[in-house]
Amino acid sequence: MAAHNHFVPISLLLGLYFFFLASLPALACDAGDRAVLLKIKARFQNPGKFTSWNESTNCCTWYGVKCNPHIDDGGRVTSLNYWNDGAASEGLSGRLPDELGDLPFLSDLSLANHTNLYGVLPLTLTRLNRLSFLYLPRNSLSGSLPSFLTQIRSLTFINLASNKFSGLIPPEFSNFPALQALALQDNNLEGVIPSTIGNLSKSFLPLALLLTGNMLSGNIPKELLAANWELLDLSHNKLTGDPTALFAANKATKYMDLSFNKLEFDMTGIEFPVKLITLTLENNMITGSIPAQINHLNDLLIFDVSSNQLCGIIPAGPVMDRFDNTHFFPNKCLCRSKVSCL
Ligand SMILES: *[C@@H]1O[C@H](CO)[C@@H](O)[C@H](O)[C@H]1NC(C)=O
Ligand SMILES: *[C@@H]1O[C@H](CO)[C@@H](O)[C@H](O)[C@H]1NC(C)=O
Ligand SMILES: *[C@@H]1O[C@H](CO)[C@@H](O)[C@H](O)[C@H]1NC(C)=O
Repeated sequence: MAAHNHFVPISLLLGLYFFFLASLPALACDAGDRAVLLKIKARFQNPGKFTSWNESTNCCTWYGVKCNPHIDDGGRVTSLNYWNDGAASEGLSGRLPDELGDLPFLSDLSLANHTNLYGVLPLTLTRLNRLSFLYLPRNSLSGSLPSFLTQIRSLTFINLASNKFSGLIPPEFSNFPALQALALQDNNLEGVIPSTIGNLSKSFLPLALLLTGNMLSGNIPKELLAANWELLDLSHNKLTGDPTALFAANKATKYMDLSFNKLEFDMTGIEFPVKLITLTLENNMITGSIPAQINHLNDLLIFDVSSNQLCGIIPAGPVMDRFDNTHFFPNKCLCRSKVSCL
């Protein structure tokens, strides 16, 4: 009987304990953060997806909102994440509100595919000294790329792709101490790539730089060529000059796309990074012949050198044999074998 008498309060205690654990994810929202989110909702004119953003409920449960799971900072908003996968009219419209800078625990700001989200990046973002992910692709943001972003020392990932940013890449953009990826593709950026950008690769690897689909011109700076990129996409620009310093067997590069530029170099003596998985060089002015070392790129899955000025025999081997003629032709006088050269 005594044991049974004890059982009841213990199970009650356990029940309370599990109730307490279960309630952890729904930490009460910080009142200040909730007020800021409600202002942001109003600035966006109460978008349909934000009906759960109701002041009588816990803001940590609102659509697109996440709070810090650590009890010490519990209830502070750490993530605001809304990828619009529906019609443009269902997404956010208006400018990025200044109030975004008033969420001091924010580490992830991800708003993507909102065609009606326009205007410049607000200066108030510089107050977000915990921001790690600035992920704003496929919107209609415009203006120049602001060098003030470098004041956010915590940034590890910047994606501003497929917007309407214009002007030059600021030389200051080398100065992100923890950056691992900079994606600026498919904007209206022009001018030369600043030579300082090579300094980016002094931060952590793996490092990705995507500048494809802009109007960048001039030679690729030697500092960028010397750096060690895991992913480098400079395709679809107006870049000139000789990029051979990018190629060395011991570089870490896995993905390289230099296609659709005006690059001029002799490929004959080149050693490609042996970890390459994709290598696309089509539509340039590359001369010489394909080096036999290319058959050492065991991981190579995507390859294209078509529409260049290459000559000579394609070195037969386990890697080159993976690709049919469309990956090599047209070229100046390239051929599959001695017989087809005649
Ligand atoms: C918030 O939720 C309460 C209770 O569910 C509801 O009565 C109220 O209309 C909601 N407010 C708004 C602004 O949606
Ligand atoms: C992006 O938005 C468009 C409408 O503006 C929609 O058709 C498309 O499916 C969305 N794309 C993704 C990947 O969500
Ligand atoms: C690039 O790095 C070098 C060496 O670390 C440094 O001297 C130089 O000031 C840096 N340049 C920029 C623009 O950050």
